[in-house]
Amino acid sequence: MKQKILITGASGMLGSKISDILARKGFPVLAAYNSNEEFVPSGKHISKVSLDITEKVHPRWFKNIQTIIHCAAVTDVNFCELNKSICRKVNIYGTENLLDLAESLGAHFIYISTPMVFSGKKGNYVENDKTDPVNYYGKTKNEAEKIVIKYKKGLVLRANPIGKRPLGAHPSFMQWFVDMASNNRSFSLFTDVVINPISTATLALIIGDVINNFRPGVLHLGSKNRVNKAQIWEEVVKLFPNYSGKVTRLSVNKTQAGKVALRPHEMWLNVQKATDMGFSLPDWKDEVGLVLKEISNN
Ligand SMILES: NC(=O)c1ccc[n+]([C@@H]2O[C@H](COP(=O)([O-])OP(=O)(O)OC[C@H]3O[C@@H](n4cnc5c(N)ncnc54)[C@H](OP(=O)(O)O)[C@@H]3O)[C@@H](O)[C@H]2O)c1
Repeated sequence: MKQKILITGASGMLGSKISDILARKGFPVLAAYNSNEEFVPSGKHISKVSLDITEKVHPRWFKNIQTIIHCAAVTDVNFCELNKSICRKVNIYGTENLLDLAESLGAHFIYISTPMVFSGKKGNYVENDKTDPVNYYGKTKNEAEKIVIKYKKGLVLRANPIGKRPLGAHPSFMQWFVDMASNNRSFSLFTDVVINPISTATLALIIGDVINNFRPGVLHLGSKNRVNKAQIWEEVVKLFPNYSGKVTRLSVNKTQAGKVALRPHEMWLNVQKATDMGFSLPDWKDEVGLVLKEISNN
């Protein structure tokens, strides 16, 4: 019998993909959205539920849930810098509310976090490296992580997911690249933002295994090699040989002055622990290819 899973942020880029993939694998999924029910996937094993995580969550609504995958967050880094109380309320208090729920259900808790909990000065971060976020979004994710780690059935999963947001939602950065390329737009991009991206589909599949072999703590997931965002663009533009826009390459370090939120630049994670645990991690080019295929299927 598969575990019953509650997924928050099921209307978002990652939560919608995890809901879809875990349901296809036969997990009964309770997919929670806040305001965008239309972005939640439908499927045989998916039930949808409206849930504002900043409100008290009653355990009696979630009987039999054995694992909570918490993807809901305010993720717009500039918005967080300008709207600190909303960001704090959702990202920290919302996580506390869900942990209370997990505790009363005795459920495992998987918290999706970000390399933005690190300063981005060195990269290659291991799970127990000191966190030191440079922007408010990263600070709230960092605070929430600390609360999750105290829970004996809590797991913090840090990753750089890339994927596709549902049609009509704010486009992901991969969708933005495709829009720039297909409409011959000129734009600027950073050559020194380094990540090890993993597609939402691959991440969702790995999370299925994590659920079945749950170990609390912190775990980094990502592609086995790193890449900068300009190299990702080069992969995208190969599909658009007639692209005639102008791309200005910039250093994130040299353009921080006057920016709403500071951006870390070395955001790649060391994934040795996951490899030692037996997870087979992909090459970044394969992950970018997978996402481009998904985007072009629309
Ligand atoms: N995207 C990235 O580049 C990235 C990188 C690293 C880590 N992460 C982490 O991965 C997770 C998923 O990110 P994402 O990009 O998939 O997010 P996203 O597409 O921006 O979606 C955010 C989700 O949070 C939900 N939400 C917001 N406020 C809520 C509230 N008060 N109550 C309940 N749900 C609420 C939204 O629901 P509605 O739309 O229904 O309002 C939406 O489903 C986040 O925890 C994020 O910090 C993301």
